[in-house]
Amino acid sequence: MLALPAALPSFAHAVPLQAPSVGASTDTLRGMIEERLRTLLPAADAHQDRVGAAMRYGVLAPGKRVRPLLVLLAARGFRLDPADVLDAACALEMVHAASLFLDDLPCMDDAKLRRGQPTVHIAFGEDVAMLAAIALLARAWRVTATAAAIAPRVRTDMVAVLSDAVGIEGLVTGQYRDLHAAAGESSRPQIARTNQLKTGVLFAAAFEIASLAAGADARTRGLLREAADALGQAFQLADDLADQEMEPSLLGKDCRQDVGKSTLVSMVGARQTRRILAAQVERAETLIAQAMPLEHSLPTLVRTLFASQLH
Ligand code: IPE
Ligand code: IPE
Ligand code: MG
Ligand code: MG
Ligand code: MG
Repeated sequence: MLALPAALPSFAHAVPLQAPSVGASTDTLRGMIEERLRTLLPAADAHQDRVGAAMRYGVLAPGKRVRPLLVLLAARGFRLDPADVLDAACALEMVHAASLFLDDLPCMDDAKLRRGQPTVHIAFGEDVAMLAAIALLARAWRVTATAAAIAPRVRTDMVAVLSDAVGIEGLVTGQYRDLHAAAGESSRPQIARTNQLKTGVLFAAAFEIASLAAGADARTRGLLREAADALGQAFQLADDLADQEMEPSLLGKDCRQDVGKSTLVSMVGARQTRRILAAQVERAETLIAQAMPLEHSLPTLVRTLFASQLH
């Protein structure tokens, strides 16, 4: 069973996309991520620094750490020491956390609760939330650009991967499409494209960071890119189902956020969405097994992530 910190609020044990139980090794990796994030973030409340405090508050709250775990497990699949990509993995989690700070703002999803606590703008104000998100992105680039265990040329490629994932080829456009497509307005391929841009790109970045560190061949990278797309689709569908079916006390974040939005759940209903989700999980598992036949923690992580949706 994955060891979650003792102080974790009770909701964390019922989150549908809950951090997985994949044995001690994943457990240990998760602990490494938590510890390293603490070190890489600004020191705790050094000079009454509210932006730094907001960064720690939002990042160190109990997230599932799925994306950095994917980096470390994929690296191990390439027979690398996961510790070598730990900083890049933490940088990816910082990017993800920044995207959540922004996603929760009143001008975006207007959310009040995240990871079991008030959203960053509720706790610190909108100005601080925006500045903290920018500071997190900046720190993510720096942490990656100076990651000691990675060759300088490879670090540069990793920074480019993170930049693409955030920018107009990724989260920014995904978020824009999500906010501006009303329910019933999009086709299935359009919804899938939005999900790829707003969610899949960070899964793709996770695998790409590990691939770059390992110098993986083009075939393997292609397989992992496809796997990341399947995983991203499944992850967003599971999240959209949870938004409709769960409660904030269980999820640790606001629910019914997607009312009026163009999601697959609103288009084809929960039953059909669950079938599509299952197909995407199977696709992801198959592709991962082809890319890394000897790494068993990754498929286990994937299966466990979606266990509550795949009954
Ligand atoms: C939430 O991501 C945003 C989506 C893409 C659905 P997570 O479900 O990974 O959130 P945390 O990191 O565990 O809080
Ligand atoms: C999140 O999608 C994707 C991001 C880029 C943050 P959602 O808006 O559905 O994520 P939650 O439900 O707020 O975590
Ligand atoms: Mg959103
Ligand atoms: Mg949201
Ligand atoms: Mg959601």
